Amino acid sequence: MSNILLKGGIVVSPKGLKKADVLISGEKIVAVGRGLRADAQVVDVGKKLLFPGFIDAHTHFDLEVSDTVTADDFESGTVSAIAGGVTTVVDFATQNKGERLSDALNNWHVKAFGKSSCDYAFHMAISDWNDDVRCELEAMFEQGVSSFKVYMIYDAMQLSDRAILELMCELKQYGGIVGCHCENAGIIGKLRGDALARGNTAPAFHPQTRPSYTEAEAIRRFLTIAKAADAPVIVVHLSTAEGYEEILRARKNGVRVFAETCPQYLLLDDSVYTKPFDEAAKYVCSPPLRKRSDQKALWDALRRGALDTISTDHCSFTADQKRAGAEDFTRIPNGMPGVETRAVLMYTYGVKKKRITLPQMAAYLSENPARLYGMYPKKGAIKAGSDADIVVYEPNGFRTITAASCHSACGANPYEGVRYQGGVETVYLRGTAVYHAGELLRPHIGRYVLRGKPML
Ligand code: URP
Ligand code: ZN
Ligand code: ZN
Repeated sequence: MSNILLKGGIVVSPKGLKKADVLISGEKIVAVGRGLRADAQVVDVGKKLLFPGFIDAHTHFDLEVSDTVTADDFESGTVSAIAGGVTTVVDFATQNKGERLSDALNNWHVKAFGKSSCDYAFHMAISDWNDDVRCELEAMFEQGVSSFKVYMIYDAMQLSDRAILELMCELKQYGGIVGCHCENAGIIGKLRGDALARGNTAPAFHPQTRPSYTEAEAIRRFLTIAKAADAPVIVVHLSTAEGYEEILRARKNGVRVFAETCPQYLLLDDSVYTKPFDEAAKYVCSPPLRKRSDQKALWDALRRGALDTISTDHCSFTADQKRAGAEDFTRIPNGMPGVETRAVLMYTYGVKKKRITLPQMAAYLSENPARLYGMYPKKGAIKAGSDADIVVYEPNGFRTITAASCHSACGANPYEGVRYQGGVETVYLRGTAVYHAGELLRPHIGRYVLRGKPML
């Protein structure tokens, strides 16, 4: 078994920073402490930051949506992940209407197996709630799926309030959790129809037809359903100050609500939608980008520890795919890449701008998603017994994000030209150096992570 000793780094955890050596044996971390000695390959990581491998708990690879398929599959998506220090993704296995959950899960295993360069797990997105699906839930847990996503919007995916309530109640016996895409389908559907009827077909009408209150209303309703079920829940990709207020209100009412936001809602705003079509379409995602005041509220929430995870909702399309909506903004496939740039953006615009601390960065990108999604302490920690998933982060120097230097197959980047500080230098995945100095060293060694219950 090969031993590696990372010497002199600064280990970052939610508890703080600690100068410590890390000894890896095979796939595991076996010791963390000062002055470690061992018969091992010694790697000098002096003055570098050591993060637990980042987890992106919200990706969509190889997803069929809007009559097309995401540009990134598990091949390109997970290379992009590794280059961004992400050692585990939790992708959304997605049930088509009428499909068995076991078939949906199997589809996702086929998509990921042998192609994945980082470890991977699956949530199950449920689009059809019925007795057969109810009976399949136990088997999902046995196969490592302990979190379920529901949508309050999208014709192909939307569940009724009652179906969401029944799912929450059913999951309680297994200790599972429901995450929700919260947008009010009725209002948005009407606003979009009205816009098109008036000839308003440009991307600028995407945010205008999904106003903040449509997210806030849906969050309030989702959390009311959670109250009725007395079940813990997750609001995914929170984008608005108004929605955040609803989360605070529900918590005061005793609802156990966890919340995720994404870098695009912290760093980008809706002014991009007035750019020429190709540029504006890059940013069409749902919920849409919001106002600077929303960004501020979300950063404040992160600073106070009132949110739980920062994921990316990586869902990428090429410029050609986005052009399906050139004459009708409602046909633009929704989503943007993000898995590769999250860590450098959060380090540069979160930590270095003093909006969050380094320990918070480790919490939001590593430990919290590991706990919430039933992978801790195998994942999300640098401690003896954990998988040796480690990001060696060089804290100094400046570089610029470009699509050309990133690994997404979509050929575009929402942060094109944005400067960032430091960078992911080396990535260890279960003890193997899979990435170093811009080079992917070992592709396709990603493995499925059999998750347990969320640690709530
Ligand atoms: O626009 C987005 N976010 N696309 C991905 C699917 C989703 O709603 O999470
Ligand atoms: Zn969503
Ligand atoms: Zn998503």
